[in-house]
Amino acid sequence: MRLRLLPLLALALACSQSESSDDPQATLVKRGKQVFETNCTACHAFDPTQPGPVGPPIAGSSLELVRAKVVHNEYPPGYTPKRTTKAMIPLTHLEPDVPAIAAYLESLGGSKAQ
Ligand code: HEC
Repeated sequence: MRLRLLPLLALALACSQSESSDDPQATLVKRGKQVFETNCTACHAFDPTQPGPVGPPIAGSSLELVRAKVVHNEYPPGYTPKRTTKAMIPLTHLEPDVPAIAAYLESLGGSKAQ
């Protein structure tokens, strides 16, 4: 009986170890990826360097841009949007996760978004 639990225990340990990282930036990027994949990929592509079913590629987006678009559905002053549509909805409840999302998108650096 006891032995059967060992693989589970090993798995739990492995998971908890990979969760705790010494590098806060890496932890932030990882969290941002999770939040992005959960909340944004209905419209944006799983790979943010690519266009999604509805939304444009957003890899490389700055913190300022992510905050403006996600929280207020606006753009930073002087920013030229990739699309002229207004199809995205504001996701105000994600405000606390904006730094993580931006860290993830910036870490990809794929597009030339400001
Ligand atoms: C309902 C579909 C939808 C969802 C969900 C969505 N987006 Fe968007 N997003 C769009 C569309 C469409 C655009 C293009 C502009 C517009 O129509 O609002 C866009 C534009 C953007 C832009 C601006 C791109 C640029 O440089 O012009 C950013 C940044 C962005 N989205 C980030 C996100 C993030 C981060 C999430 C998840 C937290 C998200 N979006 C969720 C549809 C969506």
